[in-house]
Amino acid sequence: MKTILIKIASCLIAAVLFTGLASFVISGTACASDTRRADDFSKNWKFHLGDVVNGQAILFDDAQWRALDVPHDWSIEGEFNKDNPATVGGGALPGGIGWYRKSFSVPAADKDKLVFIEFDGVYRNSEVWINGHYLGKRPYGYITFQYEMTPFLKFGGEHNVVAVKVDNSQQPNSRWYSGSGIYRNVRLVTVDPVHVDHWGTYVTTPEVTPRSAKVSIKIRTRNSSEQDQALTVRTVIIDGDGKKAGEAESKTTSRKMSVSEVSEELTVANPVVWTLDSPRMYTAVTTIECNGKICDEYETPFGIRTFNFDVDKGFSLNGKSMKINGVCDHHDLGCLGSAVNKRALERQLEILKGMGCNAIRTSHNPPAPELLDLCDRMGFIVMDEAFDMWKEKKTEFDYSLDWDTWHKQDLTDMILRDRNHPSVFIWSIGNEIVEQWDRQDSSGIAIARELGGIVRSLDTTRPITSALNNPVPSNPLYRSGALDLVGNNYNIDKYPDFPKNFPGKKFIATETVSALATRGHYDMPSDSIRRWPTRWDVPFNGGNVDNTCSAYDNCSAPWGSTQEETWKVIKKYDFLSGQFIWTGFDYIGEPTPYGWPSRSSYFGIIDLAGFPKDVYYMYQSEWTNKPMLHIFPHWNWKKGDTVDVWAYSNCDEVELFLNGKSLGAKRKAGDELHLVWRVPFVPGTLKAVSRTGGKEMLTQEIRTAGAPAMVVLEADHRMIAADGKDLSFITVKIVDQAGVLVPNADNLVHFTVSGEGRIAGVDNGLETSHESFKAHERKAYNGLCLAVLQSTDKAGTITVRATSDGLTESSIAIDSK
Ligand code: GAL
Repeated sequence: MKTILIKIASCLIAAVLFTGLASFVISGTACASDTRRADDFSKNWKFHLGDVVNGQAILFDDAQWRALDVPHDWSIEGEFNKDNPATVGGGALPGGIGWYRKSFSVPAADKDKLVFIEFDGVYRNSEVWINGHYLGKRPYGYITFQYEMTPFLKFGGEHNVVAVKVDNSQQPNSRWYSGSGIYRNVRLVTVDPVHVDHWGTYVTTPEVTPRSAKVSIKIRTRNSSEQDQALTVRTVIIDGDGKKAGEAESKTTSRKMSVSEVSEELTVANPVVWTLDSPRMYTAVTTIECNGKICDEYETPFGIRTFNFDVDKGFSLNGKSMKINGVCDHHDLGCLGSAVNKRALERQLEILKGMGCNAIRTSHNPPAPELLDLCDRMGFIVMDEAFDMWKEKKTEFDYSLDWDTWHKQDLTDMILRDRNHPSVFIWSIGNEIVEQWDRQDSSGIAIARELGGIVRSLDTTRPITSALNNPVPSNPLYRSGALDLVGNNYNIDKYPDFPKNFPGKKFIATETVSALATRGHYDMPSDSIRRWPTRWDVPFNGGNVDNTCSAYDNCSAPWGSTQEETWKVIKKYDFLSGQFIWTGFDYIGEPTPYGWPSRSSYFGIIDLAGFPKDVYYMYQSEWTNKPMLHIFPHWNWKKGDTVDVWAYSNCDEVELFLNGKSLGAKRKAGDELHLVWRVPFVPGTLKAVSRTGGKEMLTQEIRTAGAPAMVVLEADHRMIAADGKDLSFITVKIVDQAGVLVPNADNLVHFTVSGEGRIAGVDNGLETSHESFKAHERKAYNGLCLAVLQSTDKAGTITVRATSDGLTESSIAIDSK
């Protein structure tokens, strides 16, 4: 038995870990305020893949079960197989049933408290028991839910057992990779019987001027005690520097066993508004005083900002016109699967920010709460989406089966959970809903109105949209009148007619592009655009035998368009408030235009491993102001080849040199978004020089690489937290003797780790690879692969060594503390 100390929020909790039993005992607390605790409940679970009889029983013997921490996704640990019931579209990985159990005890001091277990998301059909008592079932895999455990808990030294059965056996149930298991975080929430109810605050800022902001906060209090209570509810607003910025107090009587609401109005002088470049946050700290003591202290982070969608001028934030330059993303994190990890999400957002992206669409489901926290703090606009289907199914066993019973609750919970996030600007009630294709008496009209009504009853500060791919005024979802913003997917040729077809309406391009690219693969001539598949019955029509797609932005799905084609249109029309490109990152599943052996998508601007494809830099040249230059492709071709050399740059001109000889300086003409030189290949050095106002700004060189000679490692973080969660993403490069990246290298790299860390996943971005994401080795693809290093709970130095047959090895040291 050993004792560890865990710091959670302001509470220092002494926890005793019984290693053999994998049980976790919260033995006492020393919190600043002892009223509310949200304890991380992610460590020391037991897991069994497959069904068991009576797995919920306290005395069930789980000694042989695997010990692990959640978030956990068992599908990502499986083998790719085209015959897996998820189908190739669902990522070709296994589903099935899994059981989780966790033993824990709660301190005797908590016996007068209420204890809840809160799951951020379990995919799917979770059923939860505490000490053998059934708490409930939650079919939707993307929703956050909680159960109260108090009546069934044993307080003091005795053991409690929580058991969770997860059933993802009915497949297909998703058009993309879902993952399986307790794939998001779990908390144990302990409160006084009189407390702020679950998601019980709602902060809005109805009036904002440079001099002052009115802040309105509604607080739902729950009195689960057996006495009526006189309450003092006090809210203090704390600004980003920790200073008090406003205060309000109300008195109310709360009846026993009931919920009541108080509203408070506060004024913040000289508010610092939330912007994308400087996303300043405030925190509303609400305390409830009952019987002369503090019974609860509840924090609500929020932001002060105004925004508007205009029929003619599109979107503005805090009075400043701007385009929403967004991407759609699914929830998987590449080789980590769907097991959520805050640092992995943060890295994705950092990469997106680097190209000037300012918005995320959580396609097509409620996201992990960490994503919204990060968007709040990093400055992203979020379109928060509820569903990919309503009553009409898209895959055989999808959420349509649960629609009737669950849609009200799930939508309500999404809005209640997310409505205080300043990053959330748009609610979407559904993506490409099948009901939009109905004729006159569409059930879609009634459903859209019902959903719109649910959203408006909980939040009126954000517009409601639905991502329609039938952009005609007769579309029942549009006719329902429930939408504030006409959301449109694809059909860019119809954009110019929108104001005529939908007079007086506001627009957002909810989904655009669907271009396809494999990082580092180039099909020439670069100006010939391939729209694959052109025939549905010939999936490979026009495709490459190795299932690659060209990265020249000359390849797209027939319903979409190239990245450049789309951006030119979005840029042209002010009434288009912006777009969400399909997609920011490649994701597992939906490998259009190919089928097996491909198992992940080609749509990303960035590949599955997080390595940008070339078109990333097109957006960077358009969406950022810092001078940039990017030329491609690589410079390893056959003598006699004619190679199209492209440059993306926001400088005035770019001059290209081959082995010191100028191939001419070029400037973009008209609406051009790239420059191109058609160059007969000779080995050597390609050099580009960019200039603005005649002044040299940047240079870039690409050299012909020789044979692979060395492995080189580059870590994004050399110092990580020793919390068993934090990550360092290590890029592995295969270079020649001179250190030049070998652009087609596919050497197998082995990783060994010493010290307090482990490999959480490996990848190379190749859509057809069937290598395990959970291995200690990976082949490079087009010169690169990735190893994701995770800390343990112990501080120290972690060394990662990378070896490859015939190549000089390399190691890198990462510190964790
Ligand atoms: C859209 C759909 C997305 C994805 C995409 C692929 O129609 O909304 O989920 O399937 O097509 O191009």
